[in-house]
Amino acid sequence: MTIDELIERTRTVRRFRQDRSPDRKTLRELVRLACLGGSARNAQPLRYVIVTRERLCNRIFPLLGWAGYLSDWPGPAPGERPQAYIICLLDEERLAGPLTEACCDLGIATQNLLLAAASRGIFGCRIGAFSGEIHRLLGLPERLRVLLVVALGYPAERVVLEEVGPSGDVRYWRDAQQVHHVPKRRLDDVLVEAPQEPGPESRSDGTAHRAGTAHRADNGSSPSERRDR
Ligand SMILES: Cc1cc2nc3c(=O)[nH]c(=O)nc-3n(C[C@H](O)[C@H](O)[C@H](O)COP(=O)(O)O)c2cc1C
Repeated sequence: MTIDELIERTRTVRRFRQDRSPDRKTLRELVRLACLGGSARNAQPLRYVIVTRERLCNRIFPLLGWAGYLSDWPGPAPGERPQAYIICLLDEERLAGPLTEACCDLGIATQNLLLAAASRGIFGCRIGAFSGEIHRLLGLPERLRVLLVVALGYPAERVVLEEVGPSGDVRYWRDAQQVHHVPKRRLDDVLVEAPQEPGPESRSDGTAHRAGTAHRADNGSSPSERRDR
């Protein structure tokens, strides 16, 4: 499978087989790969809890909000629930910049995780709609903040991509065969045309740009000169 195919295949799945569970060794490997993603300032402030024990999975499940757009579906029924969770945490003592940086790290890490999972036949769902009760349930120290829950397992549903239609409706939906449809915006709707050359008024410091004049930093050195220091 090419990386392009893997990206297309890595869809959110919310219904899972019960006859197979991801093993702990595999989940540890997924976390290792998650941690190889970029991190602002390379601060790496994220931490993870792997949950596979059935009793704890059962306690976590009711604390999660599933598929808000599917208003007549309360979430996976017994017999189709996740077999494991990876709880993503922020170690506030390791946060070196604004929270947005940690959230950016989180997106990168969980995408790594889900891509690596999909390549092994394991799929999942990021869940941002969780109860703060999870923190207490896991007995976590105060400095570790729960940012996201990733539910995982072997899939028991089919998910297909489609284009967002002229109405602009981005809500996912299920058809009569229980196939889950996910509308994605067309490439032409997300590409913004910008001039290929900056105009004179586009300089952030407000000064006019003159062709052939190298941008000089405050200390008078050019970017290439500074790089050598
Ligand atoms: C940050 C984040 C939070 C999400 N939270 C939830 C959630 O609370 N419950 C849920 O069922 N899905 C959640 N999702 C899954 C999205 O609904 C899903 O990504 C979207 O429908 C697009 O489907 P796709 O992942 O297959 O592209 C979340 C996704 C992201 C990235």
